[in-house]
Amino acid sequence: MRRSFGSDNHAGVHPAVFDALRRVNDGDVPAYGHDAYTVGVARKVAALFGKKAEAFFVFNGTAANVISIRAVCRPHQGIICAETAHINTDECGAPEWNAGVKLLPVPTPDGKLTPALVERRLGGRGDEHRTQPRLVSISQATEVGTVYTPNELKELSASCHAHGLLLHMDGARLSNAASTLGVSIGEAAAGTDLVSFGGTKNGLMAGEAVIVNDPALATELLFLRKQSMQLSSKMRYLAAQFDAFLTDDLWLANARHANAMAQLLSKGIVRFPGFELAWPTQANGVFVRMPADLVEPLQKEYFFYLWDETVPIARLMCHFNTAEEDVRGFLAVVDRLSGARTVR
Ligand SMILES: Cc1ncc(COP(=O)(O)O)c(C=O)c1O
Repeated sequence: MRRSFGSDNHAGVHPAVFDALRRVNDGDVPAYGHDAYTVGVARKVAALFGKKAEAFFVFNGTAANVISIRAVCRPHQGIICAETAHINTDECGAPEWNAGVKLLPVPTPDGKLTPALVERRLGGRGDEHRTQPRLVSISQATEVGTVYTPNELKELSASCHAHGLLLHMDGARLSNAASTLGVSIGEAAAGTDLVSFGGTKNGLMAGEAVIVNDPALATELLFLRKQSMQLSSKMRYLAAQFDAFLTDDLWLANARHANAMAQLLSKGIVRFPGFELAWPTQANGVFVRMPADLVEPLQKEYFFYLWDETVPIARLMCHFNTAEEDVRGFLAVVDRLSGARTVR
């Protein structure tokens, strides 16, 4: 079967995750995360982020983002985010509807916020007519495949805190970012107050975790998760997935492979005429400008989305199960189509 380059969500579930699910599928245990196994795994996940951190498993990434926002924002407050942020473009208004807050999107050259970009959005503080920024939300890796360096995070975090803002990280692809940077998951999220820690895009069946670095927020989370309909009664099955994720650094092996496949694809595709990277390939996504007349024939052979139809820019996602032959097969089709085009 040909692999899709449509999304890291198009991948199946890693076999080690299924094994972990099977292992916990025995006997009766207390529900809602009150069993000793789930408590232990939640502690292990939290420990990745620091001594004070606590972890709350949820079903999906949109919920992790919404719950994070609900934990810290009042209805008159706003969230500064990149225009390209998933919370702004791909969550059907879930943050606005469920958290009752306004998003304050900022155009960025590469999907990343900087202290200067955030500061430009701080006008009107103290003015009762204006939404009051409270939270800055960034994505690691970003939606356009770029990665914040630890230094960039440090500067952004210091600037946010100096302005009385909290920093949230949408870490749907945090594993991929950590792998690129060659640092731990905690370091790839350093300086943040809340993290939506992703697993589903990197080999889990369905599992994300909200991480908070403040015990007061942890108390809020307990209630907000339930009220947001994300408290699993059979929580051991979410815990088991994260257990597998951390065992023998499965998260890293999966992310490293996905990123390597993206590098192979990225380096291969720019050799063809009219293909040019829109942003550097720093995680598991390749964003490439491509000849408009090749979009349809290429999409007939491989599934992928256009990030921007007007240019056009293709978004090619790799995942833990993308095989080298998938990438080489894709490049061979590009080669064939490009060759036919040049001859014409
Ligand atoms: C950056 C980012 N954040 C969050 C999500 C979470 O989405 P979902 O609610 O589909 O799990 C996604 C999924 O595409 C994403 O790309």
